[in-house]
Amino acid sequence: MSLAITDVPTTDLYAVALHSMNEPGGHRRWYARYEGGPRRSLGEALRRWCGTVDATDQDLLARAPGAVLDLGCGPGRLVIELARQGRESAGVDTSRVAVRLARSAGATALCRSIFDPVPGEGRWDTVLLADGNVGIGGDPAALLARCRDLIGPTGRVLVELDPPGTGLRSNRVRLERGTQRGSWFDWAHVGVDAVDGPAAEAGLHVTETWERAGRSFAALVPAPEGRADVVRRVGLAS
Ligand SMILES: C[S@@+](CC[C@H](N)C(=O)[O-])C[C@H]1O[C@@H](n2cnc3c(N)ncnc32)[C@H](O)[C@@H]1O
Repeated sequence: MSLAITDVPTTDLYAVALHSMNEPGGHRRWYARYEGGPRRSLGEALRRWCGTVDATDQDLLARAPGAVLDLGCGPGRLVIELARQGRESAGVDTSRVAVRLARSAGATALCRSIFDPVPGEGRWDTVLLADGNVGIGGDPAALLARCRDLIGPTGRVLVELDPPGTGLRSNRVRLERGTQRGSWFDWAHVGVDAVDGPAAEAGLHVTETWERAGRSFAALVPAPEGRADVVRRVGLAS
């Protein structure tokens, strides 16, 4: 993907990170800092986000029937590939720069929060939370409930998760490079063996989990019994 960004506000460190992918070795020295804790290199992740789909992404898309909504699409490698295949699809992302990149490569992408209204609410066949995007907002049950509202009764949510044993963790995180610091934001990590709880709270049921090339995924569909909070409210929970 060719990145052509000239008007990046310096306060938007994610935009700077995307922009840096134009430079040789630009993916290096980017970190996600966990508040009060360690930092993790973002180099390989940035390369993936700004690259083209690989075999694992293609496998994910092959499991995504019908009209696909990619939540937190970033620069859009998944929606770009869906558009290339002539599939009905759209991405949603709060980053103006990411959305511009996705659109310039042929994808449909909306610049807004995934918690804001989007076209086709309740009718999407597949909602994607790729690249750990189940962490968006730091509350996986609330995010999955939002996904549940976006899909139709026969729809599915495909979620990329952390490896088994990660559990369910919420942190504040920020981007860092050298002396540059982004703003703190809430993010969650969900292990592939810990997704059942938040899924059930959101009224979703895990039908399948799989691992490919070191990445973990789950497929979620609407649970016949609905949302756990609704079940609790009407006194049916055990
Ligand atoms: C881990 S990156 C995902 C990268 C993306 N899947 C890709 O292929 O490039 C997380 C993305 O979520 C976006 N994001 C974070 N919070 C969001 C929100 N509330 N609504 C929409 N997008 C959000 C960020 O701007 C970022 O692009």
